[in-house]
Amino acid sequence: MEKLMELMDQELSRAFEKAGYDPSFGKVTVSNRPDLCEFQCNGAMAGAKAYKKAPFMIAEEVVAMLGDNAVFSKAEVVKPGFINLNVKGDYLAGHLNKMAEDKKFGVNETKEPKTIIIDYGGPNVAKPLHVGHLRSAIIGESIKRIGRYVGHKVIGDVHLGDWGLQMGLIITELKHRQPELVYFDDSFEGEYPKEAPFTISELEEIYPSASVRSKEDEEYRNEALEATHLLQMGKRGYKALWQHILNVSVADLKKNYENLNVSFDLWKSEADAQPYIPDMVEYMKEKGYAYEDSGALVVDVKEESDTKEIPPCMILKSDGASLYTTTDLATIVERMKLFDPDEILYVVDKRQELHFIQVFRCARKTGLVKEDTKLSFLGFGTMNGKDGKPFKTREGGVMRLENLIADINEEMYKKIVDNRSVRDKDAGETAKIVALSAIKYGDLSNQATKDYIFDVDRFTSFEGNTGPYILYTIVRIKSILNRYVQEGGSLEKGRLLSPVNDSEKSLMLLLSRFGATVENAFEEKAPHKICAYIYEVSNAFNSFYHETKILSEEDQGQKESFIQLLELTKNVLETSIDMLGFSAPERM
Ligand code: ARG
Repeated sequence: MEKLMELMDQELSRAFEKAGYDPSFGKVTVSNRPDLCEFQCNGAMAGAKAYKKAPFMIAEEVVAMLGDNAVFSKAEVVKPGFINLNVKGDYLAGHLNKMAEDKKFGVNETKEPKTIIIDYGGPNVAKPLHVGHLRSAIIGESIKRIGRYVGHKVIGDVHLGDWGLQMGLIITELKHRQPELVYFDDSFEGEYPKEAPFTISELEEIYPSASVRSKEDEEYRNEALEATHLLQMGKRGYKALWQHILNVSVADLKKNYENLNVSFDLWKSEADAQPYIPDMVEYMKEKGYAYEDSGALVVDVKEESDTKEIPPCMILKSDGASLYTTTDLATIVERMKLFDPDEILYVVDKRQELHFIQVFRCARKTGLVKEDTKLSFLGFGTMNGKDGKPFKTREGGVMRLENLIADINEEMYKKIVDNRSVRDKDAGETAKIVALSAIKYGDLSNQATKDYIFDVDRFTSFEGNTGPYILYTIVRIKSILNRYVQEGGSLEKGRLLSPVNDSEKSLMLLLSRFGATVENAFEEKAPHKICAYIYEVSNAFNSFYHETKILSEEDQGQKESFIQLLELTKNVLETSIDMLGFSAPERM
């Protein structure tokens, strides 16, 4: 459906044209002086130059041509030539009635659906998820959902890190602890056990010990490097162990992501890309892209316009081993082959930017992707503690994601029990739902590229620009609607009428912006724009609620109109938080 702004543009353009000017001057914007008017058109100012005429005169002629019209209740010329506009209440109400009936509340699905792969999450097998992985999961999940809402085919891939030294470390540590395991018996030819020789908690203890030891003990480290190499060469027993590590880890990761309301379509991993490496390397050599430089195989990726040095992209180390770049390039080959995407978007810590510049340039230069395949990098900033340094536990260690979530759940539980409006048996579940909103909204309301401070007190507050505040608003609306239904009212009937007061009109005007907000948030890959929008809507709703008697309204038609407005507000808010990746409870 057409947007309110577009309809106003059309009205103004017609008036410009009728007055003898180019219709393109009839552009309407939201007023930057809300105390004076709701919208404005500055076209006469621009037209003045083109037509060498005083802007005021042009504006007067245009307003005269607007004449009596269905859209504006006010069209006023102010010096030196602005046109100040207010929209008619019943026109606005009519527009919102259409919006309420639209299946996406005014968001237009794209006319050109694209296949977009989002590479996010990026956990490393056998290493516990830490807060650094939180942002990727939260932001990536939200962009995936927004993309789907606007009609694209979006595929989320977790891209597990399972091909590095950490695997060799775990194998080595296991070998030291349990040398008798059949996986280390080179003469063994039978089938390996189905059951893993460790649990997830053991695994999570094994990796850090191995990692610490490898830093102190060079021989041990070399053993781990050798084990990594043997694994990558396909040594049978090691492959079997690797599979166990993967299975145990993935089961645990899935549980963790589920708690975050994050889900992936693909659980592909670095290892899946390995089979594509030999042919890719051969091709790069054959075509003359890759050359040897002190034993290593590299592709130049610098460009003339570079202001800082972009080093060559390394494809193979001098010992023939592949690297993070090699795996990412091979993953691109695999993705092109399996999905032929229009775009691959990586949601990764911004400190990896150089890596992705190299990978993208190399992929493009060597023709791994088609000319019109977009490769994009959304590099996010660091989540810091109140001290401005990367978020840590109270003891100064790396904060595990599970513990962070448990802390926030507990904090939320206390607040909710204090509030007492929820019966005890629901409090735990409700606390989890609200806690997730605190974490996700706290993150997403910041522009992704910026660092931000994870402030538990602020994020869990029911007041201010927080997730719990948004949920509180939704719950308030739900409770009014429930009471209305209990009193015999029906949500089906009723149409929105012209607003009765300024706060109702402000709310209606805001709601009319939903479509443009969502479309723009996707274009700019900017979930924070949806956060800012729903914060405004929530504020506007709460002002309206405080100024207006809703259920005690005596005029039945008017009451039904309020109820319709509540329904639409609720739908807009709930659809928005779903795109942000959290939901609202029934009560709080
Ligand atoms: N596993 C990596 C890490 O923890 C992130 C992976 C990001 N995605 C990629 N295609 N490189 O740093």
